[in-house]
Amino acid sequence: MKLHKTRESLLDTLSSYRQNKTIGFVPTMGALHRGHLALISQSVSENDITVVSIFVNPTQFNNQADLEKYPRTLENDLQLLKTLKGNLVIFAPTAEVVYDQKVLSKSYDFGGLENEMEGKHRPGHFDGVGTVLNIFFRLIRPNRAYFGEKDFQQLQIVKKLVEIEMLNVDVIGCPIVREANGLALSSRNQRLSQEEREEAALLYQTLVQIRENFANSSLTELNAMASEAFTNNDFLSLEYFEIANATTLKTAEEKNHNVPYRAFLAVFAGDVRLIDNMQVSP
Ligand code: PAF
Repeated sequence: MKLHKTRESLLDTLSSYRQNKTIGFVPTMGALHRGHLALISQSVSENDITVVSIFVNPTQFNNQADLEKYPRTLENDLQLLKTLKGNLVIFAPTAEVVYDQKVLSKSYDFGGLENEMEGKHRPGHFDGVGTVLNIFFRLIRPNRAYFGEKDFQQLQIVKKLVEIEMLNVDVIGCPIVREANGLALSSRNQRLSQEEREEAALLYQTLVQIRENFANSSLTELNAMASEAFTNNDFLSLEYFEIANATTLKTAEEKNHNVPYRAFLAVFAGDVRLIDNMQVSP
């Protein structure tokens, strides 16, 4: 395993892989957990070399406090990565290396995907994600890049980014990895108290309840069910719940056969923001 902090040293290592070998890429913001490890092991099994980036990207945070509190655990992350099998290259640059003095986002039109859910609640977030991934994709030129479905909207947006920027990379979505109680793994979970972590199983339980009731309930009833689940909860407050078309991400206005629907939610546990989603139909 090799650690690189500059573009030049990374490119030097990758140059020998450009011909006849495949490069997999797992972008992360560190504080690695089993969800990241699943992405890395899929990449290792499908590519000759896997680049893992560890970079807390400032341009995708719309809230300065959230950026400051985001867990940074580089030493632990490197120890964990050392235990993995496979040909790994780690890229852990500073903001200056990535952005070259101007820490600014490009403004993207992702065909409306950016205006739904996370886009509404975190203005500018997807411009920041698109900007940093465009920089990484052009630098690393991976054959395949791996993203978790926990950030389902991000995954759809990355597929669109690759189209807009005409990048030659396969974007691969991987299933959500969960704790035994159903809580989706996230770097932010590190900031939860034991009680909050237990209570946060409610996100998963609510999504399962919606999936089970989807066929026999109206959208109004389903929305009410989700908001009731969080009323009077001392630990969790619901920011949004939506049932959306899984392709356009637009809020479902009616239920149509053969349209894939997904339920999405964002919840605050204290000042920690958690998101989750689940396919509810067909
Ligand atoms: O999902 C994340 O951790 C980030 O949004 C990503 C894809 C690493 C871009 O900074």
